[in-house]
Amino acid sequence: MLSALLALALPVVTAFITPDAIWGNNCVRANRGIYCFGGLQPGPTISTKMYHLDISTSWDSTAPPWSDLSDSNSSTTVPAINSAFAGASTLSDHSNILVNGGSTAPDLTAVSSSTAQFDTRTNTWSVPVISDRSLKQSRYYHSLLSDGQGRIWIWGGRDTEQYYNTWAVMDTTTWSISYPEIPNAPGPRIQHTATMVPDGKIIIIGGLTYSRNVTDPLGGQILNPVSMADLLLFDMATAKWTNLTAGGNVPAPRREHTSVLSRDSSSIIVFGGGDPRFNNVNMNDVFVLNLTSLLWSSPSTSNEPPPPRKSHQAILVKDSMLIMFGNNGEDSAYNDVHIMDTSTWSWKTQYDINDDEPKDTESMGSSAGANNQHVMSLQAELATKALFGSIILASALAIIGLICLIGNIISYHRTKSRQRKSEAFDNVLSENYLQDIRELIRMGTLHSQLHSSMTPQKPDLEDDISSQKPNEQDSLP
Ligand SMILES: *[C@@H]1O[C@H](CO)[C@@H](O)[C@H](O)[C@H]1NC(C)=O
Ligand SMILES: *[C@@H]1O[C@H](CO)[C@@H](O)[C@H](O)[C@H]1NC(C)=O
Ligand SMILES: *[C@@H]1O[C@H](CO)[C@@H](O)[C@H](O)[C@H]1NC(C)=O
Ligand SMILES: *[C@@H]1O[C@H](CO)[C@@H](O)[C@H](O)[C@H]1NC(C)=O
Repeated sequence: MLSALLALALPVVTAFITPDAIWGNNCVRANRGIYCFGGLQPGPTISTKMYHLDISTSWDSTAPPWSDLSDSNSSTTVPAINSAFAGASTLSDHSNILVNGGSTAPDLTAVSSSTAQFDTRTNTWSVPVISDRSLKQSRYYHSLLSDGQGRIWIWGGRDTEQYYNTWAVMDTTTWSISYPEIPNAPGPRIQHTATMVPDGKIIIIGGLTYSRNVTDPLGGQILNPVSMADLLLFDMATAKWTNLTAGGNVPAPRREHTSVLSRDSSSIIVFGGGDPRFNNVNMNDVFVLNLTSLLWSSPSTSNEPPPPRKSHQAILVKDSMLIMFGNNGEDSAYNDVHIMDTSTWSWKTQYDINDDEPKDTESMGSSAGANNQHVMSLQAELATKALFGSIILASALAIIGLICLIGNIISYHRTKSRQRKSEAFDNVLSENYLQDIRELIRMGTLHSQLHSSMTPQKPDLEDDISSQKPNEQDSLP
């Protein structure tokens, strides 16, 4: 009897894995899971892994039900996901994930020109044939959002030669791309966040802007921190930029933080990020931007927060904000999952699908407010599944629970041993970070030199993918 149950339960237990410690990867929610892929791992090397986290069952954060999709099907390892700091979003069908760009070199000296699509129903990648000049828009450190109507909005970021403040809009119904020219565009931006908020608007928060070095009499351009009070609003319907000024308890400036839209779509929740002064100081604080009053506040949180980090991932499922992966600058990367209950502002260890069901709107990742019906029916489905599951498995649960506990202990020890191993990479990692910073500074200097030595040309509008306005610099004192 026991061995029969053991045989039944074992595949379940052994299917769960501990993911590699990674930063700069992409995690998106689609169907009943969270899909994470790419990124950097200590070494540093580009991760070729794709992980799936089941959010249709309850679990404890000491043993999240991760599985490794890159092991299960060789078709998941298309080159497109083998990049770090890419842009990714779930399409409006909530089943397909679109990934664009990223850096394909651990030292960030190469940029991917790929756009690839992952179908979560078949677990297969495909590479759409995109007409037009998409190759000229290869970027990393950019933002990518799906508008819920088949369009993908790509903004900011950089390649090996320049920083961008331009939009690339990909139509996934025709696989064409356009580069709208928007007046009064803000300066180029990297390591920011872009959040889709109600009424077809996008809010850009934080990061670094490529702008004038105020202490340089020659007017050189460098990467400057952006105040968290200075927000950018983009209206997709009117294609207009607006400068917003937020007040209240304004967070410290940061880069490579995360921003998620709250469950009721009334605020944006920011977690962590790195100090923009390249000093390896990272944060683990929580700030809330009220979208009505444009006031920042810092809720007092309870229980143990995650260790400070940047280049992590955050996904809101109902009231739970899941914080995953990331980099802590001095130590190493993380492979943990932390859960913030955004209704009580407490960090908790239990992810519970039986948390109160939403009555009204629920957002699916970056495609905010779209397809509530789909979300509602999904929840009904999950509830039914949970009910029948518990009746059928009631007698076996205790034994499986025991086996899971053993699995947890094994997995915990495995995590611990991995953490110990990764500590050996500390010095290498810090060095990589210094290289990254040096490279950023070098590129900034190089680029401004390039621009001041170049005669400004009148660019072909369609071809003008440059984020720079060569004349602007000349007019500066
Ligand atoms: C693996 O990929 C093939 C297509 O190449 C697909 O038909 C199949 O369902 C996939 N298998 C799994 C387990 O996802
Ligand atoms: C926002 O402010 C910047 C700098 O102050 C300016 O260059 C830009 O034109 C402003 N944008 C709009 C839409 O007013
Ligand atoms: C800004 O300009 C000053 C003066 O030329 C220079 O010392 C400083 O290094 C520059 N900052 C950066 C980040 O290049
Ligand atoms: C956000 O601001 C509005 C307007 O001041 C206020 O009515 C609302 O209660 C605030 N929301 C929260 C969650 O504090």
